[in-house]
Amino acid sequence: MLAGKRILLVIGGGIAAYKSLDLIRRLRERGASVRVAMTNAAKQFVTPLSVASLSGDKVYDELFSLTDEAEMGHIELSRDADLVVVAPATANLLARMAQGLADDLASTLLLATDKRTLVAPAMNLRMWLHPATRRNVEQLQRDGILFVGPSDGAMACGEFGPGRMSEPLEIVAAVETALAGETLLPLPKGAMTSGSLSGRRVIVTSGPTHEPIDPVRYIANRSSGRQGHAIAAAAAEAGADVVLISGPVEIADPKGLTTVHVETAEQMLAAAEKALPADIFIAAAAVADWRVAEARSEKIKKSGPTPTVLSMIENPDILATISMRKAGRPGLVVGFAAETEKVIGHAQEKLARKGCDLIVANDVSPEKGVMGGTSNTVHLVTPRGVESWPEMSKSDVGRKLIERLATLLERQS
Ligand SMILES: Cc1cc2nc3c(=O)[nH]c(=O)nc-3n(C[C@H](O)[C@H](O)[C@H](O)COP(=O)(O)O)c2cc1C
Repeated sequence: MLAGKRILLVIGGGIAAYKSLDLIRRLRERGASVRVAMTNAAKQFVTPLSVASLSGDKVYDELFSLTDEAEMGHIELSRDADLVVVAPATANLLARMAQGLADDLASTLLLATDKRTLVAPAMNLRMWLHPATRRNVEQLQRDGILFVGPSDGAMACGEFGPGRMSEPLEIVAAVETALAGETLLPLPKGAMTSGSLSGRRVIVTSGPTHEPIDPVRYIANRSSGRQGHAIAAAAAEAGADVVLISGPVEIADPKGLTTVHVETAEQMLAAAEKALPADIFIAAAAVADWRVAEARSEKIKKSGPTPTVLSMIENPDILATISMRKAGRPGLVVGFAAETEKVIGHAQEKLARKGCDLIVANDVSPEKGVMGGTSNTVHLVTPRGVESWPEMSKSDVGRKLIERLATLLERQS
């Protein structure tokens, strides 16, 4: 996907600059060429020699360089790329971008470019949460600058929180998305999450269903409910009025939302319809496709004849039922596709068949450890294309998905 693409990478003066060396390598191994401009501060963190060795090109760092201007002027340099990436984007660089300053080569390139710009912020959490940075980020978003990250995590300064630069592979995924023309990259934490869904109603289904064979036995699956619950929690964090419809799970009900407990697919559908209307419906539950045609009302006795055949009938399709509603269809209907083969192909087919707006596809082969595990690797499949996210915690998937849906909803209104 990146073969033949030209990336202009601006490295800012942050401690995360060392990760940009790996980013260069990852971009180049996917076939992209990478030309690098460094700020003066960046050179305190990684050497131009390391950068040049990895990029296979000279490093651009001087605005007033006669040689560089003669070879490739700053305007040409800023445009001779398919995408401009800033990683790490320091608080200072974001401020300069927001103000439209052009006081060194890096900021001049950023102002002169006619290409899309993707920034990967990295800074101490207080700097990230400071009202000045918040204002700058909001301004840059309004200007159409794309963001990847930052994420939560331990920082070099010993603190913990938002401000950590996204990992190189996350940035690569964002670069692919930006180059594919998608405008909806995950938005930076702190700017969007809190309040981005206030006044909105979100319904999430989560967990497995249990389909009874008799009063004590049932057919189930390995879903833990962790992903659906994380999404519901993220939606509540974003200010939405959330109804979580949960199958039988062993995890606690998230705080700040209403949880409705159900057992079977039929009960889950009834609860979902009762919870409507909603702005967003997210079907994250692993609903049993079939149920036993005639569940016994009395326990099947071991002493009796062995029930060698269980005859099954199809369960209602909750996602399709909600998605195909003529009246009162939620603005956004999101499904999940848990697959063990041809993950994206099956998800695209499901998207079309069920008429939903977005499918979150994941590979649930036993060796991936997704079912019951705490992390997930997902692909977002929409009618416009596919976006693959690197492996991340189910909480991060939940938060990023909610950020994305809030933006989509915003665009609808
Ligand atoms: C050890 C050290 C680490 C730093 N790390 C960061 C950082 O991660 N993010 C940031 O925004 N600034 C960081 N700074 C401050 C920037 O280097 C400083 O604001 C500089 O002016 C940024 O210049 P630039 O934006 O032109 O690259 C750090 C400074 C020092 C001394």
